[in-house]
Amino acid sequence: MAHLHITSWVIALALLILVLTFSRAGRAKPAKITQMILRLDYLLILYSGGSLFASYASIDLLVIVKLLVGLWAIASIEMVAIKVSKSESASSWWIQLLAAFALALILGFGILPMGILPA
Ligand code: HEM
Repeated sequence: MAHLHITSWVIALALLILVLTFSRAGRAKPAKITQMILRLDYLLILYSGGSLFASYASIDLLVIVKLLVGLWAIASIEMVAIKVSKSESASSWWIQLLAAFALALILGFGILPMGILPA
């Protein structure tokens, strides 16, 4: 499940880059379609993250923080995609995306016990 989780957010990043590239090139339709696929990928992130969460026998505070930070990262990805496709300033959402993403990586890879990296 950790593999699916990592794969799904790596795909989200790749799709976000595609949405931004299409939007900046003025290609609204491919940008819209890619954005729809990106939204489907959120479901995969939520499903895999939710399954990892559900496999905790007892819930500690840090995994709840991880869950919230993950949701924050998804919200930021969505807002960056929307703002850029509307040619509005996305800088506050870029900052939030970087912060949420960095925290999710630190908590997920560095602190929380499950996952694919050797301990
Ligand atoms: C873009 C958003 C997200 C990123 C970048 C992210 C990143 C990560 C990373 C790097 C790991 C560690 C995987 C490993 O060690 O193999 C992880 C694990 C986890 N994630 Fe996410 N995640 C995101 C979204 C979410 C969401 C939305 C949820 C909850 C619904 C969630 C819940 C979890 C849980 C419970 C774990 C297991 C923690 C552990 O014990 O190691 N994540 N995530």
